[in-house]
Amino acid sequence: MKLFSLITLLIVIKTLAFANTNRPIADTVEHGTVLFDTDGNPINAHGPGVMYHKGVYYLFGEIKNGKTWLVPGQNWEDYRVPAGGISCYSSTDLKNWKYRGIALKPVVNDPDNDLDTGRVIERPKVIYNQHTKKFVMWMHIDKNDYNYSRGGVATSDSPEGPYQYQGSIKPNDQMLRDMTLFKDEDGKAYLIYSSEDNNTMHVCLLSNDYLKPTTTYVRILENKKRESPTIFKNKGKYYLITSGCSGWSPNAALYAVADNIMGPWEEQGNPCKGPDSGVTFFSQGAFVLPVADRPGKYIFMGDVWNKTDLEKSAYLWLPLSINDGIIEVYYP
Ligand code: DGJ
Repeated sequence: MKLFSLITLLIVIKTLAFANTNRPIADTVEHGTVLFDTDGNPINAHGPGVMYHKGVYYLFGEIKNGKTWLVPGQNWEDYRVPAGGISCYSSTDLKNWKYRGIALKPVVNDPDNDLDTGRVIERPKVIYNQHTKKFVMWMHIDKNDYNYSRGGVATSDSPEGPYQYQGSIKPNDQMLRDMTLFKDEDGKAYLIYSSEDNNTMHVCLLSNDYLKPTTTYVRILENKKRESPTIFKNKGKYYLITSGCSGWSPNAALYAVADNIMGPWEEQGNPCKGPDSGVTFFSQGAFVLPVADRPGKYIFMGDVWNKTDLEKSAYLWLPLSINDGIIEVYYP
């Protein structure tokens, strides 16, 4: 068979195989993909988090708008872009995303305000509090040199917002940078964040209304210099995936497992497998999304940073499998 016909045949077989998989849920977004919302506009939701509520997925992310610049006098690649607040998109199939507006608005020309466009507003995560009936958003709030290092909190009566900013805090007087939020099956919620100058992570129990850190916290992955935490629970075990610290440049992910969210956490290795797994397929993990009504099905959601033009940063979503406690993420 001629080479051309062989390639055509292979493409047809691949297309038919894909068509037959009958997957109503979109669980793959290839490297560097710019996602578009149902209006045809690029999705601007970086460092994302997803909350599933009453049959709908709500995607929250950093709005990166405008010209990227390099903060002078830093000894690391401190590229910055104006903080445009937090966006919200909703979907029922993880494929078609409807823009729901700016969930948390930034403020302009008020440099002392945490939400000023000159600040850092990163990695928003939202959970619902059954008792207060409030949606609670936590995020990393910072200044250009990343030494302000605080957790900001905002609340809303509806999932898409608008969220009212309640202020920021250093939990137990400790730094908070890259962070995630986790609501457990018993209704308790935890903040997980890079602390101590990114050297060590903390897991901190939140108050019952999820608005304040408690004094119950543990230090984990001590002196391992990890950031970008994302956590999920499967069959009673907790899994925490983190990235290394290399600014906006990709590096290898690592994961740890625990029977109790407060530890001890056991380090496991890189969940990514195959070519380019050493740089997380040129992305940085941001969130692991449990697919609703599909026990054991997860999506690893990463950011593909464009460090010199952060507004143009893109996305990578890959299926994450877990077998006998071993996590694997492959690039197809
Ligand atoms: C890596 C973090 O994961 C990002 O959220 C961002 O803070 C950059 N560092 C800044 O360089």
